[in-house]
Amino acid sequence: MTTPTDDGMLRGPAPGGLPGSDDALGKAEAGDTVPVLVAERLSKHYPIRRGLFGHAQVNALNGVSFSLAQGRTLAVVGESGSGKSTLARQLTMIETPSAGRLTIDGVPVTRFGADVPPELRRRVQMVFQNPFASLNPRKTIAQTLDEPLAINTSLGRAERAAKVAEAMTVVGLRPEHARRYPHMFSGGQRQRVAIARAMIVDPGIVVADEPVSALDVSIQAQILNLFMDLQQRFGVSFVFISHNLSVVEHIADEVLVMYFGGVVELGDKGRVLGRPRHPYTRSLLSATPALRASDRRLQVRLSGELPSPLSPPSGCCFHPRCPMAIERCRRDIPELREVDGRQVACHRAEETEG
Ligand SMILES: Nc1ncnc2c1ncn2[C@@H]1O[C@H](COP(=O)(O)OP(=O)(O)OP(=O)(O)O)[C@@H](O)[C@H]1O
Ligand SMILES: [Mg+2]
Repeated sequence: MTTPTDDGMLRGPAPGGLPGSDDALGKAEAGDTVPVLVAERLSKHYPIRRGLFGHAQVNALNGVSFSLAQGRTLAVVGESGSGKSTLARQLTMIETPSAGRLTIDGVPVTRFGADVPPELRRRVQMVFQNPFASLNPRKTIAQTLDEPLAINTSLGRAERAAKVAEAMTVVGLRPEHARRYPHMFSGGQRQRVAIARAMIVDPGIVVADEPVSALDVSIQAQILNLFMDLQQRFGVSFVFISHNLSVVEHIADEVLVMYFGGVVELGDKGRVLGRPRHPYTRSLLSATPALRASDRRLQVRLSGELPSPLSPPSGCCFHPRCPMAIERCRRDIPELREVDGRQVACHRAEETEG
């Protein structure tokens, strides 16, 4: 394999500068204390029609905050409908949040609204769950990988072709297969193409939404190892969305647990998965045999379903399903606060020690 960093390939300096953001970018490069991505109370509300004339609002994301350091992986977990993909669309600037602030490389990008400068957009790339759907079946792999280079760089045709070949090598594909079409590859190989497409523009952050869930179990570990290898080599940061806690255990540094559009627990993987404080995190772990806590007191079985986003429960949104709920939980919304070295939104977090 070639070493892409030596000649700036894949990690070349950002072409051009951003107006008004030189200081912030300079700081981000000079010190590793500046996080590459900061989300502050990000919210997304979707207006929907109800009946013939009625209007309502789905609060898909409610005040999500976290920060991501360079070269680290934050895993986002939570059951279906908890808002994980909605969060991904805000982080990748595919959508504009209804409220809150997103800062990339020290630059508050939410101030641009929908007109985020391309150079900032390029810094956050996305990998989707289903590579068959996310790749254009009529384009060869070479065309698919060339496109982001043609858009984002001023490289000539020959230089782009060299970069395409290199990117294919980096993700474990043979460059001589560049003229093939997506259907000529296996599922795992297609996901490698999608990962190459994300990495080829030198992103600082890759948001991956369930990137291995559609793959055979035997292939999942290979793709997870590829992600980890890319992180080691290029220092890229990952937001890794997965409902599979065994996968999260493998890849994450930190874990963010989402419930009903909000953060219920956030912190170091060892703490959140090893000594969970929120009853919801415990219920997710109880449903994962490989990681299930040996201590039976830690086990929480989850009943019922996510409440309707059109009629949120009073107080703590988890209280209708929580085995520990008391009167206060029905009344007061729990703030995210520090307990035992992690952030947790539960009135009874101190009592849940194993
Ligand atoms: N464009 C939209 N318009 C209206 N409601 C939406 C829209 N997108 C998402 N939602 C709602 O927002 C909530 C969160 O959806 P989201 O897709 O983010 O969940 P998720 O955690 O990614 O789920 P899954 O694990 O199934 O992918 C759901 O109630 C969903 O129905
Ligand atoms: Mg989703």
